[in-house]
Amino acid sequence: MKLHICDNKSSAEKACAEIFIKHLQSNPKANLGLATGGTPVIVYNFLVKAFHFSQISFRHIKTFNLDEYLGIHALHAQSYRSFMKKHLFDHVDILPLNCFFPCEEINYDEAIKLNGGIDIQLLGLGTNGHIAFNEPGSSFDSSTRKVKLSDQTLRDNKRFFQAGEFQPDTAISMGIKSIINAKEIIMLVTGEHKAKALQQLIEGNITEKFPASILQAHSNITIVADLNAASLLS
Ligand code: F6R
Repeated sequence: MKLHICDNKSSAEKACAEIFIKHLQSNPKANLGLATGGTPVIVYNFLVKAFHFSQISFRHIKTFNLDEYLGIHALHAQSYRSFMKKHLFDHVDILPLNCFFPCEEINYDEAIKLNGGIDIQLLGLGTNGHIAFNEPGSSFDSSTRKVKLSDQTLRDNKRFFQAGEFQPDTAISMGIKSIINAKEIIMLVTGEHKAKALQQLIEGNITEKFPASILQAHSNITIVADLNAASLLS
């Protein structure tokens, strides 16, 4: 595991984006595994800028998102498809047919395999140790499936919904097995509120009670963190 600690949130986001930009330059036909949430927004801004400066193209890129809510329409403002369109897809030359999201109708793990697997996977970290929506207790052998979001995750993600707006408590999540099968993983962790989780990920035992701990066993993972997130590391 490589750990890259940056002075602040902005430099961590930039460092993470640079890894993706380099990867896209050396492998313009890459399959990207993508995350949503607060963490990667600025990374996507950097990718859009790099596209506008003709440094990268998404023409031959395929993307596989980690998760999608159930119970809201794909066009709902809070769906993860809408998130990706808003922050990345609508601003680059990616083909809509090449943007995949987990759903109940397709065998997502098979689709990933048939397309040659994920070359580089972007991950955020849940405060409870979830990766994608694999909540504590998820099997390390899990495949893409319907999941129930934990109370902690519902609380953490409430900020994305308007007061009184329906907030889904179920989702389809890529399983831990598919995440771990990615050839390369880049995890971005920023903010003091992630410090405990990052410490447990790096220094704790590998246990299904803390799904992100399995990343210790991946042979090609880089964690990019800011000083606040890294503040509890020994
Ligand atoms: C999002 C995802 C989640 C988030 C995690 C952190 O697609 O899979 O695991 O990465 O919940 O969310 P933020 O970045 O909002 O703190």
